[in-house]
Amino acid sequence: MPSAVSVVARSYPDRIIGIDNKLPWHLGTDLKNFKSLTQGHAIIMGRKTFESLGRPLPKRINIVLSRDKIADTENVKWAQDPETALLLADFYSICMSNKQFFVIGGEHIYALFDKFINKIFLTDVNTGPINGDAKFDFEFKSDEWFFKYEKEFSKSAIDDYSFRISYLVRRRNEHRERFITEFKRSNPLFDSNWNKYVDESFHESEKRIETSQLDFLEKLKPE
Ligand SMILES: NC(=O)c1ccc[n+]([C@@H]2O[C@H](COP(=O)([O-])OP(=O)(O)OC[C@H]3O[C@@H](n4cnc5c(N)ncnc54)[C@H](OP(=O)(O)O)[C@@H]3O)[C@@H](O)[C@H]2O)c1
Repeated sequence: MPSAVSVVARSYPDRIIGIDNKLPWHLGTDLKNFKSLTQGHAIIMGRKTFESLGRPLPKRINIVLSRDKIADTENVKWAQDPETALLLADFYSICMSNKQFFVIGGEHIYALFDKFINKIFLTDVNTGPINGDAKFDFEFKSDEWFFKYEKEFSKSAIDDYSFRISYLVRRRNEHRERFITEFKRSNPLFDSNWNKYVDESFHESEKRIETSQLDFLEKLKPE
């Protein structure tokens, strides 16, 4: 199944991710990385994060979790529970031949999908102590997670604070299983996509994706 990858930016040292349903900073360079990672993919978010964005993110399938119905459009899909969100993310990822989808927040949604996440792009923003009402209070224990890549960025004309982007990988991956019959019911095109999808060696393609993501990060500059 496609891998669930988290992308999150939090303040250092308080681990704040939002205040009054907004980000407490503007980091243009970090947003470039977010865009590069997520464009062309399915993204899962909570209703409050969806509202805070102000519009569906273009070139992405926006899967929005809410207990109240949200009207579906071409790139907005409502999920009434976490299982539906995962089913939609798997479905659209396979239809787009993507090996990954992204969990993009906020606090409640990171917590809901925590156990499925094997990889995280974590931005630590050097704000110093700040107030906020949403947190990402996750402790990355070294027996469970390792830092595979880290890069420091200075404050710049497009970045309110200096920050560090880390790429963390879970030592023992969680694997999700799903029955192909669940998909077949929902779309006749699925069979051909599925065959194409499973043809490619999963491990090899994950490695290739990771290399290109880290390569982008290595070259990323605030300009
Ligand atoms: N710094 C970052 O990287 C980052 C990233 C994303 C967001 N944020 C910030 O985080 C804050 C928002 O986080 P949040 O935790 O308040 O809200 P959220 O996680 O974005 O959304 C919470 C909503 O998701 C829905 N939901 C949660 N669990 C559900 C379930 N089991 N089944 C169905 N629906 C469910 C509910 O919507 P309904 O109430 O409609 O049922 C709930 O109110 C904002 O300040 C935002 O700017 C920061």
